[in-house]
Amino acid sequence: MTFIFILALLCSFCYADKFTRHRFPTQLSYNDTVSNSIDQIDLQRMYLFVASITSCHNRYYISDSGSVAVSKLIDLLNPLISANNFLSIETVEHPWKQKSVIVKWNTPQKETVVLGSHIDSSSHFFPSRSFSPGADDNASGMAALFEVLNVLLQVQFKPNRNIEFHFYSAEESGLKGSQQIFQHYSRTHKNIISMVQFDTIGIPNPHLAPHMAVVTDNASPPLVQFLRMIAQRHSTLPLSPTKCRYACSDHASANKFKFPSALITESKLLGRNWFVHSTADTIDHLDFNHIAEAVKIALGYTIELAT
Ligand SMILES: *[C@@H]1O[C@H](CO)[C@@H](O)[C@H](O)[C@H]1NC(C)=O
Ligand SMILES: *[C@@H]1O[C@H](CO)[C@@H](O)[C@H](O)[C@H]1NC(C)=O
Repeated sequence: MTFIFILALLCSFCYADKFTRHRFPTQLSYNDTVSNSIDQIDLQRMYLFVASITSCHNRYYISDSGSVAVSKLIDLLNPLISANNFLSIETVEHPWKQKSVIVKWNTPQKETVVLGSHIDSSSHFFPSRSFSPGADDNASGMAALFEVLNVLLQVQFKPNRNIEFHFYSAEESGLKGSQQIFQHYSRTHKNIISMVQFDTIGIPNPHLAPHMAVVTDNASPPLVQFLRMIAQRHSTLPLSPTKCRYACSDHASANKFKFPSALITESKLLGRNWFVHSTADTIDHLDFNHIAEAVKIALGYTIELAT
């Protein structure tokens, strides 16, 4: 019994330790850098990215569009990687076909700030959207990360922590791509400051006052607080807290392995009807100004934590 007690005590320490190891700033220190970066957000560049990544269904590749999306993504990222020697790109193999992709911005430091998005989510998190071409569900988050990377390169950002841009494969098995990655990071004691997932950020809910949402379950409260502070300063929209009530996106995988995480999404989740506003998930339904508001939060998050 004592043994169990000691074990429980020890475990509660490791638990607490992993969640509290890094404190999130309670005030913002790099307003000018964030503000200058926000000025560089390019809606056209995001549009072209989504157009390219959602055009997978052509006659050459129809049999294998999930893997083609990965090659397209890599094609779009490669020019940035080869032009900057501090960037590297890795594909992560899974027991299923579609690979995950990680872009690493390497510094001599050990701590890493993570931004996440997913490549394909048809079957699990947003089942009612499974008929869609995925412009919002699976391309808007990737477009946001692509934009953050482009902007940070453009302003010649000099991070003091590593930054990782994750593009998770989720095909066939919900969240499994990100789970494998965070399980590996947990086992290897990788020093992750935090992870913020960007998922389905392109279509504001027309029935509610303009806002962006942050999902607070399977998430770290201090990180959520920090993100709301960033939005308050840099976004024109309030960042409203909301709940999924299930492990609805890849932030839940980071959270499962005790890495502080949160999810930014386009609007508050109003039960199952949340999806109804988007009957055709195609590029012409995306509001790139809405995606840009998520990118502002992403830039604030990255610059404040990685400088
Ligand atoms: C901080 O940046 C925002 C734009 O992102 C700008 O509107 C605001 O004026 C800046 N605040 C200060 C104190 O510089
Ligand atoms: C997005 O998801 C849809 C629906 O599951 C899928 O058909 C499409 O290939 C995916 N797009 C990308 C870029 O992975």
